[in-house]
Amino acid sequence: MPSSSPSEFLLNYKPSHDLPPLAGLGSFSEASQRGLSVEESVTRLKRHHYAFKRLHHLLIAHITAQPIYELKMAFSYHAYLCAEQTTAMRDRVSEMREPPLGLDRVPHPALELFFDEILCAPATELMLLGIYEVAVPALANALELHIKESHILADQPTRRACRSALGEIGELLDYGQSALRALLSANRSLEQTQFATRLRELLAIAGGIDGTEPELAKQAERHFSATPFKFDSKPRRDGRFPDPYNMGINAEAFLYDAGMPADAKVLMMFYKRLREIDVPEMMASILTETECKPWDYYRDLTRQLWDEARHAMMGEVGFVSAGIDWPRLVMVNYTWSLALNTQLTPKERHAVLYYIEQGLMPKNGKRHEWEVSLASRNELASTFQDFDWADEVLHARFGRDWYVSDMPSPREAVSFGDQCWSKVLVNWEGYRESGLTDHHNWWEALYSEFCRLHKKTPDPAAAAFNQSYQHIRADLKEISASG
Ligand SMILES: [Fe+2]
Ligand SMILES: [Fe+2]
Ligand SMILES: [Fe+2]
Repeated sequence: MPSSSPSEFLLNYKPSHDLPPLAGLGSFSEASQRGLSVEESVTRLKRHHYAFKRLHHLLIAHITAQPIYELKMAFSYHAYLCAEQTTAMRDRVSEMREPPLGLDRVPHPALELFFDEILCAPATELMLLGIYEVAVPALANALELHIKESHILADQPTRRACRSALGEIGELLDYGQSALRALLSANRSLEQTQFATRLRELLAIAGGIDGTEPELAKQAERHFSATPFKFDSKPRRDGRFPDPYNMGINAEAFLYDAGMPADAKVLMMFYKRLREIDVPEMMASILTETECKPWDYYRDLTRQLWDEARHAMMGEVGFVSAGIDWPRLVMVNYTWSLALNTQLTPKERHAVLYYIEQGLMPKNGKRHEWEVSLASRNELASTFQDFDWADEVLHARFGRDWYVSDMPSPREAVSFGDQCWSKVLVNWEGYRESGLTDHHNWWEALYSEFCRLHKKTPDPAAAAFNQSYQHIRADLKEISASG
């Protein structure tokens, strides 16, 4: 029987075989709603894009000077997720609009001020509050609303992008809530409460992250950001890194000594991995101090930064799973990130990084480390070295794409990296004379504890190892008298 009205027809309309309609996207009733226009959808995407980009930047900007190791690692991860979502938002905008896309434009001055205030917050607790209690939940709400209001069929690619972003933002929310519980008292200080209120007010002036709220008519004012942000390039560590200038044990000299046993080499590799914490500290300085590169530069380097943070955590897991109390027994220094950040330009730092990483590719580099882990029959170490190697191959590609391409030739790119590393003054003697470290040999106690725990007879050569970085660099090149 013919329906009496279109709405009745819509209600009774059935797909064949009772299959889910519209490829499972939703019902015909939902699909019959108007949904956002392309213009409205693009405008919101641009604001999500701006929020992700600013979050990425401010997380990266605080990695180096943040002393708490766990936060350094979490900022690295969250910055990586934000960089990926920034890219996804850009991609979706570029599918709907022709260039110029206007993605570098600030969507609202109060929104810019909002992120500036978090960036310049003078204490870790305030920064965490700004990111995880105000900015991230506001962004999550904006993404949810965008999913709800965009057309389920016409704008499915946007809904997909927003859903994926929402999933990753969920990780930031969960971590952030735990971090706030761990580091802030339930009774917020007056300064913290006032800061959160100020931030919410800035968001209200901007009409929310996505600009869908009526804009609060009020003058936006700078407080913390009245003095412009200055990147702090000096790495800081917490109490589990009690001897950060100690260069008493040359890990590479040990690893490439054919006479040393594989299980002791695995232990040394856990140290090398954990010491990679200095690469995010250094790369954060390149990312923060390099302006005007294409977005993909920041995206690739952020991925690399996050990989290096993962490598550091692999080292931590290696020690913990072997029962080693690493903060007591392993002296993880920051002399490399400190020297590069304070003595070289961002491009020179990138040159050194590229020089070191392309040196890891020949046979005795990452392949050697992986083979050592196989020879030691340590399955966990084998997994770690396998992926460490794969990641480093990717990094060599990033190096070619963003550093070598900027140099006259690949050969000059390598030799410039070598020169830059050679000119870095790692002040071995000065650190000792000024009482910053005695460069003591911590390996001896670590190896002996490892053998005791695992009921192994110490290998005499491994136990006696005592080669430092005083005269030999990590690529086993001799350090000249000048530095
Ligand atoms: Fe690395
Ligand atoms: Fe690595
Ligand atoms: Fe790397």
